[in-house]
Amino acid sequence: MILDCLRNVFRVSKPPSFHPVPCQVPRMLVTIPQLLNPDQVERLYRRLQQADWQAGSATAGPLASQVKDNEQLAQDSALGQELAQEILAALAASPVFMAAALPLKVLPPRFNRYRGGGRYGDHIDRAVFTVPDSPHRIRSDLSATVFLSAPEDYDGGELVIHDSYGEQRVKLPAGDMVLYPGTSLHRVEPVSRGARLASFFWVQSLVREDAQRSLLWQLDGAIGELHGDLDPGHPALAGLTGVYHNLLRRWAQT
Ligand code: NI
Repeated sequence: MILDCLRNVFRVSKPPSFHPVPCQVPRMLVTIPQLLNPDQVERLYRRLQQADWQAGSATAGPLASQVKDNEQLAQDSALGQELAQEILAALAASPVFMAAALPLKVLPPRFNRYRGGGRYGDHIDRAVFTVPDSPHRIRSDLSATVFLSAPEDYDGGELVIHDSYGEQRVKLPAGDMVLYPGTSLHRVEPVSRGARLASFFWVQSLVREDAQRSLLWQLDGAIGELHGDLDPGHPALAGLTGVYHNLLRRWAQT
């Protein structure tokens, strides 16, 4: 069930939607447009409509359960496990995800639904997750949410992430994904109309420290930009790509 991403990591590629991140920002919040295409979203959404939803508080710790009011698919749900494979395949095919997360292990994606005022108050996710029915454990360096409902189909439901620059309010088109540091305090605002369906999961990165991973992401993006402007044989490209790999070699833990 764990996505083995190593085979895809060892190249610097130009993310299709790269926009430079200011160098002074040590923490990163990355959105990935269209991780799932409209057909995939429609199929997942339709199947999730018939799913057997359970109270989300069942999987929360004693503190989190006091602020968690949503529904989830059970971790042993056959439907959930099948749909998780679709998300994992989309992640493996996303160069932006690979470059931003530098994933070592990905927890099998889960699914949740907020409606009727459902919310999840401020909390920090647990640090280590156990993969069901396996000896694997995953450190949650990064948290991820894939939005499956169209924003116009529900009111509220923003993912609010606190970072050193204040609050970021995230509500993305269906099929889009956000990646943010697992250390972040965050919440999901009450959904006062309609339903908000999403997939969520955690990533253990090859590069544990957020600031180091962020620098690699910026460098990767800058090299990608240069690829568009310089002759492919330009020695600076080879030099910078070498710096990228040598930094990754210093910082990666496998
Ligand atoms: Ni959370």
